[in-house]
Amino acid sequence: MRSRNWLSGIVLGAGMVFAASAASAVTIGFSQVGDEGDWRPAFSKDMQDEAKKEGIDLKFADAQGKEENQLKAVRAFIAQRVDAIIIAPVVVTGWDQVLKEAKAANIPVFLADRDVDVADKSLYVTRISADFNLEGRLAGAWLAAASKGRCNIVELQGTTGSAPAIERKKGFESVIALFPDMKIVKSQSGDFTTDGGKKVMEAFIKATDGLKGICASFAHNDNMQLGAIQAMKEAGLHPGKDVLMVSVDYVPAMVTELKAGDANASVELRSAIGKYIYPVVLEYLKGKKDWPKWVKIPSDVHTAADVK
Ligand code: AHR
Repeated sequence: MRSRNWLSGIVLGAGMVFAASAASAVTIGFSQVGDEGDWRPAFSKDMQDEAKKEGIDLKFADAQGKEENQLKAVRAFIAQRVDAIIIAPVVVTGWDQVLKEAKAANIPVFLADRDVDVADKSLYVTRISADFNLEGRLAGAWLAAASKGRCNIVELQGTTGSAPAIERKKGFESVIALFPDMKIVKSQSGDFTTDGGKKVMEAFIKATDGLKGICASFAHNDNMQLGAIQAMKEAGLHPGKDVLMVSVDYVPAMVTELKAGDANASVELRSAIGKYIYPVVLEYLKGKKDWPKWVKIPSDVHTAADVK
């Protein structure tokens, strides 16, 4: 009888410890853009894996590329009284109202990856992300050197109104503006997808009689460039040889293309963001409130020569 009491005491104690730790787990709502290419699912997986390691209860909402879904998800997180909200915003506009609602509910908001354009920056704590403008400048600088400053370029833009599409374009243009014989002759959105990139490149091939006079393809992400490579091969062209191919992300499929010589350079966008963002969120919740408005994740350029 005594031993049974002793055992039930342990079980009860363990139960209480478990209940206490479950009750004290930090709950974070994460509104993700979707799964438009190879980079984004790698980022989603990293956020989920890192949350597990940190003992965070992560509520993951996939917006399937639609801002309206993100607004609904954020409002649901507010109603559930999560401890913090992380948003990777599809586009930069349309965020003021919902961020005000989170602030009114005393729930801190953190931006991951993409940016928002809000008048009142106090509506979010900080943004943890790479510098998209720098990525565009790195791509432009690589191309200026590779083409010796003489190049007609076709550009495959990312999702219209998204921070990476806006900033990669601006950064790239700011560098090629230094070279009078470099210019973008065609530019269209492929929405960051392989299919979109393929369709846009098919249209470019048609409009330029097989990319005549075109020296390079600059794609705002690797997936569009992968689609462009397919379109060029189907048209009997030789990407990476007839036309220089530079893009952003450095996903595994692009590494394969770099090795094969079908692409020339890719600017790396790190998908392992969890290890940067969760410590910031957790420390904020413990009381460290003074964060810079932007915690930058470094970028790097990889070329066909590097991967070999
Ligand atoms: O926001 C980052 C960009 O979004 C990545 O470069 C791209 O692959 C994704 O769609």
